[in-house]
Amino acid sequence: METNIKTVTVVGAGMMGVKISARSLISGFTLRLFDILPGALESAKNKVRAEVEAYCQGGLTKEDPEIILQRISFHSDLKKAVADTDLIIEAITEKLDLKKEVFSQLDQIAPAHTIIGTNSSSIPISKIEEAVSRKDKVANIHFYLALVITSPFVDLMRGTQTSNETFAKCKTWIEAIGCIALIVKKECMGFVFNRIWHAVKREALASWAGGHADYKDIDRAWKLWSGMPAGPFGMMDVVGLDVVYDIEMTYYLNSKDPKDTPPDALKAMIERGELGLKSGKGFYDWSDPEFLKPEFTKPPNSHS
Ligand SMILES: NC(=O)c1ccc[n+]([C@@H]2O[C@H](COP(=O)([O-])OP(=O)(O)OC[C@H]3O[C@@H](n4cnc5c(N)ncnc54)[C@H](O)[C@@H]3O)[C@@H](O)[C@H]2O)c1
Repeated sequence: METNIKTVTVVGAGMMGVKISARSLISGFTLRLFDILPGALESAKNKVRAEVEAYCQGGLTKEDPEIILQRISFHSDLKKAVADTDLIIEAITEKLDLKKEVFSQLDQIAPAHTIIGTNSSSIPISKIEEAVSRKDKVANIHFYLALVITSPFVDLMRGTQTSNETFAKCKTWIEAIGCIALIVKKECMGFVFNRIWHAVKREALASWAGGHADYKDIDRAWKLWSGMPAGPFGMMDVVGLDVVYDIEMTYYLNSKDPKDTPPDALKAMIERGELGLKSGKGFYDWSDPEFLKPEFTKPPNSHS
């Protein structure tokens, strides 16, 4: 199916907005990137460039990075950012009220044909859609952080009135940017894979905060068992502990199950400014993260 999508606007130039923009750019789409904070937009310029160059070096495209980067423009005026766009991906802070406010604004100023997707990690589009009149043209389009090389899969979930045409166009666009669409058949919190990842995070955090196990041992076990480069705590550091907290709170507010409450110890870390990779310290010291060293998963008497 032809997507008819040529221009994409990403709203929110944070960690995910940058990654989604770069992936779309190298796949030939024209990109408009908007953020409410001028500083975020400024630092996104260098980050998008770095992502695009990494894709080029990795051989994902043969196009010259300078040519690719000509397709992106950076905007602090939302109207201009969406004026001629076919698809909007909202990637702002994980707060329902904020997302509804932004969806409502976008609904009023974007062209009538434009599809609006949310990259929310946990909020179903059905909770946001009341803010818009184009309920047939909204969807959850959820990218994963390790999008760059290792996990090019994207959750795709309908709202209560998402049309088959919108859904098909979103799936075609996901595939056009070289990703696999994981289809949610029936609405649920956490979509296809974040639901599983949420369960892992919840149990890992409870084990650490409850004093049952050291977070490093949990990561060690995870790395040895799965062969992945990081365990749950290393991954949470990369995601950002403030972002993790907001996501876990969304699950809790939905379920009201005390087991879903993010631990106070995590909140205390955030209050101390320990946000993970982005602040230089979280569970790990990011100047030289211990879990990346070969010794981390070597038996103490190993000779190799
Ligand atoms: N971090 C992850 O690993 C990850 C993975 C998948 C999905 N997500 C989801 O993606 C979204 C963004 O996460 P992130 O990690 O990129 O966050 P981030 O904090 O890095 O970036 C959020 C950006 O949104 C901007 N913003 C806030 N309010 C805005 C508004 N009203 N209009 C425009 N811009 C606004 C902020 O200035 C910031 O630059 C969240 O919904 C999150 O749940 C995050």
